[in-house]
Amino acid sequence: MNIVSIIEHKKNHQSLTKEEIQFFIQGYVAGDIPDYQISALLMAIRLNGMTPEETFALTDAMIQSGDVVDLSSIEGFKVDKHSTGGVGDKVTLVVTPILAALGVPVAKFSGRGLGITGGTLDKLESIKGLRVELEMDEFIANVQNANIAVAGQTANIVPADKKLYALRDVTGTVDSIPLIAASIMSKKIASGADGIVLDVKYGNGAFMKTEEEAQTLGQAMQEIGEAFNRKMKIHYSDMNNPLGRFIGNKLEVVEAIDVLAGNFEKTSKDLIDTCVDVATDMYNMATDNKPTAREEVLAVLENGQAKEKLFEMIRLQGGDVTDTVMNDVAYKVAVVADKAGVVQSIDAQQIGEVSVSLGAGRLTKESVLDFDAGIELVVKDGAEVAVGDTVAYLYANKEISAAIVEQALRAYNVQ
Ligand code: URA
Repeated sequence: MNIVSIIEHKKNHQSLTKEEIQFFIQGYVAGDIPDYQISALLMAIRLNGMTPEETFALTDAMIQSGDVVDLSSIEGFKVDKHSTGGVGDKVTLVVTPILAALGVPVAKFSGRGLGITGGTLDKLESIKGLRVELEMDEFIANVQNANIAVAGQTANIVPADKKLYALRDVTGTVDSIPLIAASIMSKKIASGADGIVLDVKYGNGAFMKTEEEAQTLGQAMQEIGEAFNRKMKIHYSDMNNPLGRFIGNKLEVVEAIDVLAGNFEKTSKDLIDTCVDVATDMYNMATDNKPTAREEVLAVLENGQAKEKLFEMIRLQGGDVTDTVMNDVAYKVAVVADKAGVVQSIDAQQIGEVSVSLGAGRLTKESVLDFDAGIELVVKDGAEVAVGDTVAYLYANKEISAAIVEQALRAYNVQ
């Protein structure tokens, strides 16, 4: 077996064998196969696809490239969730304490933001003192004692994905359904949960631009999860508009707490609905479809138990629960409507770019975040506006240029 014949097979529309897939993953991680050959193979996969059997074998080979987290010392059904990423997506901050408050253990590894999509770890780090780098012993002890830990990955999980993803990013091969499915599912399976709820986003602020593409990806991931004996549930959600009213790290923490405290008037229906749906899916999975699942989810929002769980997690991870309110920022600029009509949509991609320009997101891994920076969407899609109405506020600790304000205004499609 050699890498050139593997590339030839995929170029000629042949299915790769399990052995061929293991060979190229092991060879690439070991440094025996160079980037240019894996680039050619990735492009052949991008153009010619993979069968479900090949996608499973790829996921398996990627999992075997590193460590697998052992959560067996935690009692109960461990449930995980993953979002394919979006603008204003603070769902993890809301659903993990809900599940913990309902007695379901949540051991969640999250990531940082890159580009226009935010990351849960950055949002948590906007709380003074909060640590997201936990040793595995502490991570497991927190889940055993409080049912909840949300942290970055310390173990060497799926090193093959780190190398492959970096290469895909620069070779035009990110948008391949089998490659995305294997990338996400290898990390989820290696993270050790018994069940996984996936929130697959579609729209201009997401990887998948259409609902149909999202469904094809969701189905591929469901098949992989079930082949690994994981319970799977796929949730689809619209990312043509940003989720909720706030985009930015601290702003999103504050909004998540408003949802958890049942202060629904301070946030928006799209966010509440997505959080309640995803939490209900997770609770159903852990309880074999308890008939009262949805009511119980709503009850822990209304009685304050879910908010208290988040605060317990913040304290356990060294955070200051009094630092869960917005700080004063140096600059707050209103975005004012120059046209009357109804807001048809708010371009999530543009809003994501505005939030990065304000300092809430990263352009490179080295970018330093302004945790207070971000956007408040005063009006959402469906609202009627008159000329002179404030549609949004921009927050930052550096001066906000007129061009950024203009970009935010143009994100609003008013007709
Ligand atoms: N997220 C991942 O983890 N991998 C992909 O390939 C795409 C999105």
